[in-house]
Amino acid sequence: MGPQLRDRATHGERRIILDIRKYNEKAWDKKVTENSPWTLPVDKELVAKARKGQWSIVLTPVKPVPFGWFPGFPDMTGCKILGLASGGGQQGPILSAAGATVTVFDNSPAQLAQDRLVADRDNLQINTVVGDMTDLSCFDNASFDLIFHPVSNCFIADPEPVWREAFRVLKPGGSLLSGIMNPDYYVFDSQKAEKEGLLEVRHPLPYSDMNHLTKSELSTQFKEREALEFSHTMETLVGGQIEAGFQLTGFYEDRFGPEVGDTVSQFMPVCFATKVHKPG
Ligand SMILES: C[S@@+](CC[C@H](N)C(=O)[O-])C[C@H]1O[C@@H](n2cnc3c(N)ncnc32)[C@H](O)[C@@H]1O
Repeated sequence: MGPQLRDRATHGERRIILDIRKYNEKAWDKKVTENSPWTLPVDKELVAKARKGQWSIVLTPVKPVPFGWFPGFPDMTGCKILGLASGGGQQGPILSAAGATVTVFDNSPAQLAQDRLVADRDNLQINTVVGDMTDLSCFDNASFDLIFHPVSNCFIADPEPVWREAFRVLKPGGSLLSGIMNPDYYVFDSQKAEKEGLLEVRHPLPYSDMNHLTKSELSTQFKEREALEFSHTMETLVGGQIEAGFQLTGFYEDRFGPEVGDTVSQFMPVCFATKVHKPG
């Protein structure tokens, strides 16, 4: 795809052309008004504990990121961190309270407002920037020591520009920590899984809401302003990071917690996390 079409998708022969980035911006703004769990900011107590060095954060739904993935844990003083597609007032404020210099970058102004809310409430210095994760041109080369990228590339058609941009803006010796959906999650009929608890293999992979849903399913999705999702190949998700120049140095898998009631999670891990290193 050419650059101007990178964040656009068409719906099969029905010729619906949509700017995915703009659509998902509004979808995530709406999730904030609905108090989706991925938009709820941390409370004062967690920030106070992080200031004392007691903290953990997630890249995936439940498992805390291993402490060894953070240089100097628990004191992050002197570490320049980019929270990439990380709005929602969760990880950015904790990393800032732990001493890091934090920039949170996200496509949803409402998600970034959650980071601002915590920053103002708890007197933290957090820089917030609105933008598309595939284009980090507002940052110079070698600007950050660490990039923290929670599950989010399922909302874009092609994650490869993200890996290339992350590599460019990281300092040599820096690391990119990413949460990623397991592509196999998307092989199942999500409605049947959600409503009937049934796992029916339905979609060839890689999956795209735009191309694999029926016309009526897609119009319901549009009506409810539900975010549009994509799966990607493992070649793109893991191989793409290596292709960008990174070395893989850490990996774990995770599932949604019982409160989410996700059927697929009862049978297999639904997401994973990678730690990759930019050679120094
Ligand atoms: C599941 S949330 C991850 C952040 C949240 N703090 C968490 O840990 O759950 C996904 C985030 O990706 C953001 N996002 C979606 N598409 C994006 C894009 N093209 N560029 C930047 N951020 C995007 C959303 O606005 C949302 O804040």
